[in-house]
Amino acid sequence: MRNVRLFCINLLGLCFLFSNSQTEGCGDSGSLPPKPNISHFSDKQSLGLSWPRNQGASERNVYEIQISRTENHAIIYNRNVSISAGDSAQYTWTWLSDLPLECVDHSVRMRSFCHQTGPSPWSNWITNHGTKARDKFKIFPSQSVLKEGSNVMFCCVAPVGVNITSITLRGIPYPLLNIGDGVKAILVSNLAIPTNLIKILSVTCTDSAGKTSSVGKFVSCKFIT
Ligand SMILES: *[C@@H]1O[C@H](CO)[C@@H](O)[C@H](O)[C@H]1NC(C)=O
Ligand SMILES: *[C@@H]1O[C@H](CO)[C@@H](O)[C@H](O)[C@H]1NC(C)=O
Ligand SMILES: *[C@@H]1O[C@H](CO)[C@@H](O)[C@H](O)[C@H]1NC(C)=O
Repeated sequence: MRNVRLFCINLLGLCFLFSNSQTEGCGDSGSLPPKPNISHFSDKQSLGLSWPRNQGASERNVYEIQISRTENHAIIYNRNVSISAGDSAQYTWTWLSDLPLECVDHSVRMRSFCHQTGPSPWSNWITNHGTKARDKFKIFPSQSVLKEGSNVMFCCVAPVGVNITSITLRGIPYPLLNIGDGVKAILVSNLAIPTNLIKILSVTCTDSAGKTSSVGKFVSCKFIT
């Protein structure tokens, strides 16, 4: 938004155009919502946000950040975070997801708190889209090697109109977590290396018609980085 003032001095027949753009964050003239840019680091299961630090904004600022899942924006994270830009012209912030980001849409919005003034309006939601399944299930995380001792959420994404009725790990069913339309997940704590001869963990999704789909994963020893 720009405040443009036309200042005319009739006597001289001169017109001056003054333009001062309001700064995002903590400016003197009020605050506009931040405009974050989102990037997805799939290997780390994290979302990176960056947004410009405008003139007048302090080095460290408090932002209220919300993260939602699915197209209905079910909020799963809502915090005030104090973020420093340091010497940079950008603020950056990273969020680590428990669920692989491919499973479902994740959206972020934020607003800034300035000094004693009230919060800025919320930014628009910006979305990192999940994967859609066309004709068969998709299973995430997609890495073939997972780490021993980690807590892993596996999800199945079903084609439109198909319902997932079970997800198993090495044939053992786990409680299903409803993530969104056609998306279900399981949480496996403290992942162990299979003790049988074939050291593959199979993850299997089954739908209400009995159709199944599986992927195999290896588990690496936690002492190997
Ligand atoms: C947003 O981030 C991506 C990845 O870091 C970058 O390539 C892109 O130029 C950025 N866009 C804007 C508008 O800053
Ligand atoms: C963040 O701080 C503001 C102002 O102090 C407060 O109104 C708001 O409820 C806080 N939000 C959260 C998620 O704690
Ligand atoms: C899937 O589940 C929904 C909600 O429980 C139900 O309305 C729908 O009929 C089910 N679809 C199939 C193909 O079973």
